[in-house]
Amino acid sequence: MKTRTLGKSGMTVSAIGMGCMGFSHGYGAAPDEGEAIRLIRRTYELGCTFFDTAEGYGPYVNEELVGKAVAPFRDRIVLATKVSPVVLAGQDMPEGKLSRKGIRRALEDSLRRLGTDYVDLYYQHRVPEGSHVEDVALWMGELIREGKIRGWGQSQSSEEQIRRAHAVTPITAIQSEYSMMERMFEKDVIPACEELGIGFVPFSPLASGFLSGKYGRETVYAGDDVRRVITRFARENVEANQPLLDLLQRFAREKAATPAQIALAWMLHKKAFIVPVPGMRREERIVENLGAAEVTLTPEEFCALERELDGIVIHGNRTDKDIERLGTVKAQ
Ligand SMILES: NC(=O)c1ccc[n+]([C@@H]2O[C@H](COP(=O)([O-])OP(=O)(O)OC[C@H]3O[C@@H](n4cnc5c(N)ncnc54)[C@H](OP(=O)(O)O)[C@@H]3O)[C@@H](O)[C@H]2O)c1
Repeated sequence: MKTRTLGKSGMTVSAIGMGCMGFSHGYGAAPDEGEAIRLIRRTYELGCTFFDTAEGYGPYVNEELVGKAVAPFRDRIVLATKVSPVVLAGQDMPEGKLSRKGIRRALEDSLRRLGTDYVDLYYQHRVPEGSHVEDVALWMGELIREGKIRGWGQSQSSEEQIRRAHAVTPITAIQSEYSMMERMFEKDVIPACEELGIGFVPFSPLASGFLSGKYGRETVYAGDDVRRVITRFARENVEANQPLLDLLQRFAREKAATPAQIALAWMLHKKAFIVPVPGMRREERIVENLGAAEVTLTPEEFCALERELDGIVIHGNRTDKDIERLGTVKAQ
């Protein structure tokens, strides 16, 4: 597996990581614990060294699962988790989460659940507007100096929040939504990451699976599956977005690849500091998605793909507000 470095941090990871959220959260029924552990370990065997979880997934149980799964090779991977800005069920934090004490306590609890004494990458899961980003950056810097975390980041933050925080404690990576269907961070955040030497880790890089071309307007989603409520999966939008799948399928045929691989190869081609973390819970999808690191687009192919993509109107999206309508799951 090819490797990449998250910006100037020197933190090296496989070119494609694994998002572990779906093993406990957000995509309906998940495989049992034994199978989930087998799949995470298989992903490592196939060369993946970057695993993503959060205290909010479950909440808590995803960190426990990931901690168990990666235990045999914990010191050979980059393990990322996140602190939620809100007090989660069962947490007693009168001081609030985004306080020095709140973040420390959340981290200690994550370390215990993960069965480790350090986290490689600790993200602030959301950065509320008007929040004190410099203070959080300062406290993250203390945790780095104490060796409890190796680096830190933010999720879904604005360019301004990134710049202000980075000036206090350099950020290792930003994790935000990015795919062929959601390109809002191309105009400011990704260029700022490039300028400042910060890695960019796209979440939902396959637009919740849509870009694999394996989900149709008749597909039914159940339980806490966010596709029940995000508008990208509304029946009429699935139909309206067909031109994007047609484009991916055409490129996939030409490159002897799959649509999911083309969608991932497209973002890998964009910038060397971009490292997607798709979510996948079947061995054949893990092999398929990790295989995207071997699909290289020539400059001409990339330009042709980009040009056609620019001409396609995308219908629907994925918002925290829509996801909260489910009532079963926090958006993060
Ligand atoms: N920071 C944040 O706020 C935030 C938000 C969301 C997610 N995340 C992180 O980012 C990770 C990835 O996000 P995501 O799970 O939404 O990413 P995604 O890869 O865009 O979507 C995952 C969905 O797509 C399906 N899928 C993936 N590859 C496929 C393939 N080759 N063929 C068919 N279906 C495929 C998966 O199916 P199966 O799983 O059923 O196999 C799953 O239902 C999460 O696991 C989590 O760690 C972070």
